[in-house]
Amino acid sequence: MEVVIKDNYQEISQLAANYLFDTVKKKNDAVLGLPTGSTPLGMYQIIIDKYKDNCSFQNVRTFNLDEYVGLDKTNKCSYCYYMENILFSHIDIKEENIYIPNGVAENMEEECRYYENLIRSRGPMDILFLGIGPNGHIGFNEPNYYFEPYTHVVKLTDNTIAANSRFFDSIESVPKTAITMGMKTILSAKKIVMLATGHNKAEAIAKSIKGKVTPQVPGSVLQLHNNVTLIIDKDAAKYL
Ligand code: GLP
Repeated sequence: MEVVIKDNYQEISQLAANYLFDTVKKKNDAVLGLPTGSTPLGMYQIIIDKYKDNCSFQNVRTFNLDEYVGLDKTNKCSYCYYMENILFSHIDIKEENIYIPNGVAENMEEECRYYENLIRSRGPMDILFLGIGPNGHIGFNEPNYYFEPYTHVVKLTDNTIAANSRFFDSIESVPKTAITMGMKTILSAKKIVMLATGHNKAEAIAKSIKGKVTPQVPGSVLQLHNNVTLIIDKDAAKYL
């Protein structure tokens, strides 16, 4: 695993955006895997500001990692809303090329199978960007006793609900379940770029990179992939 330690958030965001631009420059119909959260915000801003000088998203397809169950696209806390506002409405991507798990599907089991099959038939993802939760979760794959391979519904841990409550009016309004790509889905991407900043990610980063591969530390699964770049700041790197 390649580990790049940068001095500041701007440099992390720039390098991540460069990976994305390079991928789309080489392949104008690239398939991208995209995350949410606060960490990729800087990368998305650079993409909005600079994409016209670098590439077009006309033929690009995107798959988001995850979504809260029960929140639809009009809900400001849904990842669908986030993606539209933070990125998609500012670039020339076609609506029909955007895929995000449907958190309000009538039958969630069916939605999981549908989403997994979409990734399989339209993919593989050429590049997948990831953040990491303070407990080591990737996408919404929480610490568990086994690896969930494919897209599935997951019960969020108290740790994740607390960490993500800053985006909601109250901790009670954070959904208790989510739909997420599974571990094999994530590992099926040709290239993975993980971003992390801050002291509160340091333990998760150290365990993911140097610890044993275990479903108790979901990020550790990245050790099984042969093309991962981790872009982090000094705070997140402090136990490496
Ligand atoms: C959420 C998302 C993850 C993301 C994590 C970290 O739980 N489901 O995909 O990696 O948050 O978010 P942040 O970047 O805000 O720390």
